[in-house]
Amino acid sequence: MLLDQLKSIVGPKGWTVDPVEIEASVTEWRGVVHGSTPMIVKPASTAEVSSIVRACADAGVAIVPQGGNTGMCAGAVPDESGTQIVLSLARMNRIRNIDVDNFSMEVDAGCILQKVQEAARDVDRLFALSLGAEGSCQIGGNLSTNAGGINVVRYGTARSQVLGLEVVLADGTVVSSLRALRKDTAGYDLKQLFIGSEGTLGIITAASLKLYPLPGNISTALVALQSPRDAVRLLAHLRTELADSIEAFELVSDFVFGLVTKHAPELTLPFDDHAPWYVLLDASLGERSDLIEAALMSAAERGLLLDAVIAKNATEAAQLWRMRHSIAEAERSLGKALKHDISVPGSKMEEFLTRGDELLKDLIPDAQLVAFGHVGDGNLHYNVVLPGDVEDGEFVTTAIYGLVAELGGSFSAEHGVGRLKRQYLHQYRTSNEIELMQRLKKALDPGDILNPGKVI
Ligand code: FAD
Ligand code: MLT
Ligand code: ZN
Repeated sequence: MLLDQLKSIVGPKGWTVDPVEIEASVTEWRGVVHGSTPMIVKPASTAEVSSIVRACADAGVAIVPQGGNTGMCAGAVPDESGTQIVLSLARMNRIRNIDVDNFSMEVDAGCILQKVQEAARDVDRLFALSLGAEGSCQIGGNLSTNAGGINVVRYGTARSQVLGLEVVLADGTVVSSLRALRKDTAGYDLKQLFIGSEGTLGIITAASLKLYPLPGNISTALVALQSPRDAVRLLAHLRTELADSIEAFELVSDFVFGLVTKHAPELTLPFDDHAPWYVLLDASLGERSDLIEAALMSAAERGLLLDAVIAKNATEAAQLWRMRHSIAEAERSLGKALKHDISVPGSKMEEFLTRGDELLKDLIPDAQLVAFGHVGDGNLHYNVVLPGDVEDGEFVTTAIYGLVAELGGSFSAEHGVGRLKRQYLHQYRTSNEIELMQRLKKALDPGDILNPGKVI
């Protein structure tokens, strides 16, 4: 019997049927999608992952790889059949090594992102991926979703932080390409297949990651603005004035900061007057922190901003970033939100927001719009909280994605596709793209045992 076989592979610490743990692992972060599983397996090594996959492949039983289960598209939870095994990477959490001179580190896939950041910082290096869930998401989950976060404007998405991967394929084969090289043109770049494929093509068990020098003193500012268009222009202005030292540049609407301060009353906006929009930014200026003030002054003279506050110290900066990182929690406390994680060209951001507003007013006037995001990457979280009497908001999602497509954007900019957005992948990718994705899936997972029902 498969379950007994899996138990003997991982030993007594490596599996659970505890109802509390099961409940947490079959429920996605928003609490909206629930699945079911007979057991969570928690391998402690790549060899154990390989044996589990082999056993499941032989039995024709599906596996759902799970990291921190903070994903926003229900990609890490099993379906309702009650047959799919959840494979948690949580016990594979070793920092394998750090090569300070090579600016690289090798880690197990189950390392919590924050632990990876801290290990790098301990040796004066930066691991340049940062997001609100960093205290609980895992590096394997980050790579499988090609996560974005707040530093993409400077360092790129999770994909850009990877030098090599170790992956277990659907037949249990271990493919190790953990080379810590920045240049390597030998053959196909296999790691790219698995980054962003949400556990449907292989299970990532370890990664070789790129590090950067620590950026030194960071200047943090909160800027009040009239419009998102001004945010796009302000970013261009600051990148030019400050020698491209902008590390983060996040747009937040006044309504959204209102939600945060209601949810966490100890947090307050440092302005007397409200503005329609705000940008929270970090610039790495080292000892020249005076430059930020000058650059913001010249932006004000050009009419690009209404007001600005520069954090006086690290505590004030951390407080401002807490406001930004509390948005997802504050939104969740409002009720069921439709997550629209879209991108449009920066030049179309204003048009998207204006037309999106009109569209929402038409379709669902009582909805609450939670608009914020990574404006430097053209990526906006255009989330919509439905009024209590509306059960199914799919018609809103369909209309918003239609507008995004018309403006040349993407319906899925940073959270992936998972289970929730599959139909839109088929709608917004060409038939040749879909066919190639299907061929890849079939070639790598002919028995459809790796996270079936997700992405494609
Ligand atoms: P999970 O949710 O466990 O899994 C996500 C997907 O990856 C699933 O399909 C799963 O099957 C697969 N998977 C997990 N581990 C592996 C593995 N080792 N091998 C193969 N497949 C695997 N996302 C952003 O991009 N940017 C943000 O700014 C951001 N902010 C967030 C803020 C909050 C408060 C929260 C709750 C979430 C946020 N997210 C953000 C979404 C989420 O944190 C990311 O998608 C994150 O990368 C998921 O990591 P995880 O370990 O929780 O993965
Ligand atoms: C964030 O940037 O905070 C998350 O990706 C957004 C979300 O909760 O939709
Ligand atoms: Zn985000």
